[in-house]
This record gives sequence, structure tokens and C-alpha cells, in this order.
Amino acid sequence: MRATDDLISGPAYLEGAGLYARQAETNARAREATARLIGAAPGDVALTQNTTHGMNLGVGAVDWQEGDEVVSTSTEHPGCLAPLHNLSRRFGVEVRLIPPPITAEKIKASLTPKTRLVALSHVDWTTGEVLPLTEICALARELDIPTLVDGAQSVGNIPVDAPATGADMYAFTGHKWLLGPEGMGALYVRPDFDAPGANTGYLSIEDPKSFDAEGNYDLHPGARRFEASTMSPVLAAGFAAAAEAAYERGEAGLEGIRRRAEFLADLLEKVPGVTLRSPRPAQTGLVSFEVAGVTANDAAERLLRERFVVRYIPDPNPYVRASTHLFNTEEELEALARAVSGL
Ligand SMILES: Cc1ncc(COP(=O)(O)O)c(C=O)c1O
Repeated sequence: MRATDDLISGPAYLEGAGLYARQAETNARAREATARLIGAAPGDVALTQNTTHGMNLGVGAVDWQEGDEVVSTSTEHPGCLAPLHNLSRRFGVEVRLIPPPITAEKIKASLTPKTRLVALSHVDWTTGEVLPLTEICALARELDIPTLVDGAQSVGNIPVDAPATGADMYAFTGHKWLLGPEGMGALYVRPDFDAPGANTGYLSIEDPKSFDAEGNYDLHPGARRFEASTMSPVLAAGFAAAAEAAYERGEAGLEGIRRRAEFLADLLEKVPGVTLRSPRPAQTGLVSFEVAGVTANDAAERLLRERFVVRYIPDPNPYVRASTHLFNTEEELEALARAVSGL
């Protein structure tokens, strides 16, 4: 169809513009809500698809060379480890994985002049242990080494003040502890962290009118440079609502999650043959355990058949892991402990 004056300035155009304005508004609401939840400014948060997407964006913000090194831990989720191992395949980067217990001293001892990134979780997904993130980020900063945090198990589970951790980049998602829809997450980027854009498009450009094909344009100075293009306003609205609700529940909500984990851990501890693998008292809503004589895989499958949605954690920590949230009742947790003793 030929563009007529009516099409480019009339009602159809205005409807189109309205649609984009609506998307921009919903995205802004999601950024504001998630930023507020993690103590950041809205401009320091980019919307992503999930934690793993954020981790890939963070890994892509470093200009990798053969022989560079990246430090992480041996119990990371594939959402962190896969992007790191990909670096070793593509660029010959050495991936150094530190075994637990993770201490700032152990991380420090693994850093060399070739270390270009420290990438690790805030909460260990295998045990629910909270890592000494602030200390780790501080020592990496002293050596000018960027830090990238996997916050999949922390945001909505424990209090998170991303700027206060000192992390350069902090990735998380809406669909886990925030109880939001699958398909949208966020990446916090420290405001003065000078990262090249690793995922660029029209949303990354500060003033789309300044763009020309010769590359004359400025990227957003902050996190927004990582947002490239159209996202789902439906997911953004759901993500915003989930983050707003978590903010409203506040510290009391997080304490409610932790208390349920503590209650479950108390029950499981009394079951003969069960060994708890999570810290006591509980630090998060994750409760990991082993059952003597039953592999974790088998135990998780049998519990699932009884409609208890627990997770099997693979090597190197092959545990059964339960996640407690505010909607779990004491009766449900008692029923789970009974089902575990039935194994
Ligand atoms: C520590 C950790 N990182 C990353 C992920 C993957 O998260 P997402 O689905 O948001 O990419 C998970 C999922 O269980 C996880 O526990």
C-alpha cells in the first residue's frame, strides 16, 4: 500500500504511535518496579528475557581474548556456566571454577592479571547458601575486574540491594521467587560501569533520530544499552505487577519464606536417614537434603509422583531441593516431610 498523508499522519499512524507509547510505558513501569525492589535507579536496569539472558549479556560486555581467565564456582547453574564454557570454546578463555565453601579469600587467591570477569551466584542454587558477595565484589573492584552476578535464586527470596553489593552487573528473572510470568527478567548495571553494548538495536540508542547508517548514534549511557528491540508488553506488565507485589510484601514476606524453610528443615532433620545439605538456620527458602539409600533423582521423581514439586540437583551436589514460598502451609510442609520419610 502506498503511504498516503492519511496513513502517516492520520488515525492509523496515531494508533500505531499509541501502541508504541503504551509499550514504552509498560516497559518503564517494569523497570521502575524491579529497580525499586533491588534498591536501584530505573535507568540502571535493562529488561531481559530471564537470568540466563542477563548472564549472556554480561559475559558479552567483555572483549574476550585468547588466554583471558574468568573465575566462577563449581556449583553454578548452567545459566552461568554455559556462557562461561562457551567463552572457552569460542575464544580460548580459561574458566576457573572454585569449589565450595566459597570465601572471598578463595576467590581472591584465584585471580590473576589475566582475570577479566568474576561471575557467580548470590545464592547457591544447590544448597541455598548466601555467598559473601559484597566482599567478593569489593576485592574484584580493587583489581579492576568486573563482576557479574546470577541472582536467579536471590531476588524475591532474600533482601537484595544490588548497588550495595558492589556488583557491576546483576541478572535475575521474574518467574522464580517473584512469582511473575515466564519470559521476562532484568539486568542491573552499575551506573558508572563502562560496558560496551552487547545486544544493540533501536531501543539501545539514546536518540533514534540521531541514527544513521554510518553508525552515528549514541547508546544509552546506562543499562538500557542492553535492551535491543520489541518486548512483550504483556510480560512487562506481569513482571511489573510481580515486582510491585514483592516490594509491598517487603522484608516480612522474605522472612515468611525463610521461616517456612526453617520449619521444613526442622521436620526433615528428624526423619531417619535424611541428611540436610542447606545451612542452618535457613538463609533462604531453599532446603536441600539427601535420603540414605535413595538417589536424589529417584527421590525427586517419587516425590513428584506424590505431587510434591521438588527439584533434583545434578552433580557435584546431587541433592533433593525443596523451595518454600509464602503460599506453602504448615500442613503441606508436614505432608512433604511424611512423604520423605516414606522413601
Ligand atoms: C542459580 C540459577 N541460575 C540460573 C537459572 C536459570 O534461570 P532462568 O530460567 O531465569 O534463566 C536458575 C534456574 O533454576 C538458577 O537456579
